[in-house]
Amino acid sequence: MNKNIFLQSVKPTHTLPKFPEKTSLGMQENLEKELQKRGLSIAIKNKLKGGVFSQVYDAIIDGKSVVVKHTENVVPFDPTEFFISKKAHLVDTKILKLLKKSKHIKVPHVFYYYPDITTTIMEDVRNSGFQLLNNFIVEKNLPLSSAKSIGKSLALLAKESRLWKPFATNESANQSIYERGLELRLAYPNDQKQYLFLEKEFVQHNDYWVWPDGHPKNMFVNSRGDVTFIDFGRSHWGDQRYMLPNFLAHIVIYSLAGYIKPQQAQEYLQDCINAYKQIEPIGEFIFCQYLAMEVLHRANGKWIQGVETIEQKLNLHRFALHIFDSNIVSIPQLIRTISIV
Ligand SMILES: Nc1ncnc2c1ncn2[C@@H]1O[C@H](COP(=O)(O)OP(=O)(O)OP(=O)(O)O)[C@@H](O)[C@H]1O
Ligand SMILES: [Mg+2]
Repeated sequence: MNKNIFLQSVKPTHTLPKFPEKTSLGMQENLEKELQKRGLSIAIKNKLKGGVFSQVYDAIIDGKSVVVKHTENVVPFDPTEFFISKKAHLVDTKILKLLKKSKHIKVPHVFYYYPDITTTIMEDVRNSGFQLLNNFIVEKNLPLSSAKSIGKSLALLAKESRLWKPFATNESANQSIYERGLELRLAYPNDQKQYLFLEKEFVQHNDYWVWPDGHPKNMFVNSRGDVTFIDFGRSHWGDQRYMLPNFLAHIVIYSLAGYIKPQQAQEYLQDCINAYKQIEPIGEFIFCQYLAMEVLHRANGKWIQGVETIEQKLNLHRFALHIFDSNIVSIPQLIRTISIV
């Protein structure tokens, strides 16, 4: 007798939907041959670290170093994940092109774009002195000068993108908060009040475009504190108030995980928030809630480098639950919490 008829196994026993196949261009040598067939004199060299959803390489074209980004469909590996179509790539490149004209926000220049094979060849921003912000952080060397420029750029990104005409994205606000809020749902299993409130806010405020992946693995900074943003494929129409707390959650996460001194993190948050506020208003309560949701999302180490030990994970949980359970509603209270949990 089957007693498990109401259980959904992590390894589903029912037939999975037939997901679209990946193409052979997911293999480096096939992609290189295909690009050569299209007339490029290209040599693809190394796969770059990161690149969870796409295959990203450095390459040489006519003696110049460039970055090649190729995207395949991402098939879910358990029932809490969803299928991410390679069409996200088209959204990514669309945003790079929209922002090309921006006076305020820097993104890599697109050299070649092949939408039919979801491949883009772009400027390697490391050639102009930029380094990935995440690398500075994990080396315990966060440049404080980046706080102001990132705060300002995120605010200007929100403001400028409000002038864009609507276009189709690959993901929706509902899908995005479902993924990013999953750990919050699990943290409050009985009524899910905290999650449901944020879901409502996130989905109802969807008149404008949101970059939900604005974290240190998708930001480059240089010694002057200038910033370059990458990786817009998963963006969608949703609540723009999410972008700043989503970024700053990562500063809190890396502080609680031991990579940034609490006092430095507090200063960083304050500088970044001040710069943002000169351009865009901040709702403090929703800021605290979104930030804590993201800390919980990463608390078990999901898609983040360097959150591995029991101590680190417990610190993240303690901080996030403190925000929700102790009624932290203002930014000064949240900033103080970094050094007291
Ligand atoms: N234009 C660029 N110049 C230099 N390095 C780049 C550039 N674009 C991407 N990279 C590097 O490749 C990594 C992965 O790129 P990207 O974030 O676009 O891919 P992804 O698969 O969508 O990422 P993830 O899922 O890991 O967030 C980046 O973290 C960065 O280190
Ligand atoms: Mg990325």
